Amino acid sequence: MGFHTYPIDRADALEDPSRYRYCSREELLELLAPTSDAVVADLGSGTGFYSRDVAPCVGTLYAVDVQAAMHERHREAGIPANVEPVTAGIDALPFEDDELDAAFSTMSHHEYAADETMAELARVIRPDGRLVTVDWSADGAGEDGPPIDERFGVDEVVSHLEGAGFAVERAHDRPETLAVLARR
Ligand SMILES: C[S@@+](CC[C@H](N)C(=O)[O-])C[C@H]1O[C@@H](n2cnc3c(N)ncnc32)[C@H](O)[C@@H]1O
Repeated sequence: MGFHTYPIDRADALEDPSRYRYCSREELLELLAPTSDAVVADLGSGTGFYSRDVAPCVGTLYAVDVQAAMHERHREAGIPANVEPVTAGIDALPFEDDELDAAFSTMSHHEYAADETMAELARVIRPDGRLVTVDWSADGAGEDGPPIDERFGVDEVVSHLEGAGFAVERAHDRPETLAVLARR
C-alpha cells in the first residue's frame, strides 16, 4: 500500500483555493467535530492549507509531514500559534499512546497507507477518537489529482481502517473523492 510522496516543487498547487471544490473547510469540520481544547493531528499536512482551517477550532494542532521542506512552505504561509509542525512519518509518530483526541488527512491517505501506519494511528488516537480521511477516489474520473491507479476506492480505505481496529461510522464516495469517518 502507499504510493509516491507529493513533490515539494508542486507545493504551490496545494495552496490553490479551487481545491475546496473537492474538500471544503465546512465538510472537514463537520466530520471532525472538534472541541476548542482538542489535541488533533493533520496527517500529511503539506503546506498547511487545511491545518489553518482547523486550527481555530481546536486546542493544539500537530501538523505532521515527512518532508521538512513542506513545513518551510507552511511557515511562509503563516503558522497559527496553536499549530506545531512535526517532521515525522505516519509510521513512527512522536506521540504517546492515546495522546490525540482526533486526526484527519486530506489527499494524503493514498501516500501513506500501510499496515504499519494504520497500526500507528490506532496507537496514538484515544479510544472513541475520530479519524477523518478525505482522499482522491479510485472510482473518480481522474480530472484532477493523482493517477487513478495510485488511488484507493472507498471500500479499500474502509478495509485499511477496520483492519487496524477502527469502527467506520460513515463512508462517502463522491464524484472524485471519498470521505470516511472512523472511530478508534
Ligand atoms: C498530496 S499532499 C496533501 C497535503 C495536505 N494534506 C493538503 O491537503 O493540502 C500529501 C502530503 O503527505 C505527505 N506524506 C506522504 N507520505 C507521508 C508519510 N508516510 N508520513 C508523513 N507525511 C507523508 C507528503 O509529504 C505531502 O506533503
